[in-house]
Amino acid sequence: MKRELLMVGPMYPKTLEVLDATYTTHKLWLAPDRDALLASLADRIDAAATSGTKGMDDATMAKLPNLKMISHFGVGVDSIDVDAAKRRGIMVSNTPDVLTDDVADIAIGLMIAAARRMVVGDRYVREGKWPKGPMPLAESVQGKTLGIVGMGRIGRAIARRGEAFNLEIAYQGPNRKTDVSWRYFADPVALAKESDFLVAACPGGEATRGLVSRAVLEALGPKGIVVNISRGTVIDEPAMVELLKEGKLGGAGLDVFADEPRVPEAMFAMENVVLQPHVGSATHPTRLAMGQLQIDNLAAYFAGKPLVTRYC
Ligand code: 8YV
Repeated sequence: MKRELLMVGPMYPKTLEVLDATYTTHKLWLAPDRDALLASLADRIDAAATSGTKGMDDATMAKLPNLKMISHFGVGVDSIDVDAAKRRGIMVSNTPDVLTDDVADIAIGLMIAAARRMVVGDRYVREGKWPKGPMPLAESVQGKTLGIVGMGRIGRAIARRGEAFNLEIAYQGPNRKTDVSWRYFADPVALAKESDFLVAACPGGEATRGLVSRAVLEALGPKGIVVNISRGTVIDEPAMVELLKEGKLGGAGLDVFADEPRVPEAMFAMENVVLQPHVGSATHPTRLAMGQLQIDNLAAYFAGKPLVTRYC
């Protein structure tokens, strides 16, 4: 007999196909009455699949007294109340490593696109402006310092790429890493003062909310470019928009926002800002690999084996 699985949010289609074939799935995001579906499943559900912003809060966990395992699609688990899961003895798995390189690529892409005004250049050609004269010059990436907030897997992948672009690397995080030789700053303001580019690559959640504060952005300054591939919550977004407007921050390359998919419209007209719709991991091979980890973690749980990539 097929086991039952609660799915909280939409899935990558190929992952959904496998899960639908393997389990009796219950799709919470499609339920006309969410509470009624949860109530009808309460005793039967011991595993759930979550994704992106469709994680799980404490109140939902309370409605599923037999829940033992949450298999999350994504490396960031900020949409899951992890403390509540721990308290309730619910295991959580995520999808690390397989997306690291794609996300790091987007970080570097945003940095170069913002500094070299690549999106402006694209528009310049398409709008037929080139025959009338050359585009204004941009800034160089060369000889600059790349500050990275968060030296985890993705931070390291960004740092390695940065070195290949002749950038000086420095980083900030809660702890100095003993296995890397890049310059460490405990204080993000001190890091920003030394940086031309500042990339947020730390986890989201309450611990890092507003870590890239107004003071950090002011320290980065009118020639500095901030890049965010982490979570919108990490940057003080209203302060960032204000500083960009006032010319006190040089530019931004952003893949994530505080209230996705809503993006502060003030940035739409800014030529020094490059915007992406949260696509860091959005490639076919990576989403397939993330989905496979989600599938494998569920299979391990149901087989009574250790989870493949257990978060907590
Ligand atoms: C995805 C992400 O956008 O892994 C993460 O934490 O933010 C991204 O890979 C998201 O998880 C897709 O649902």
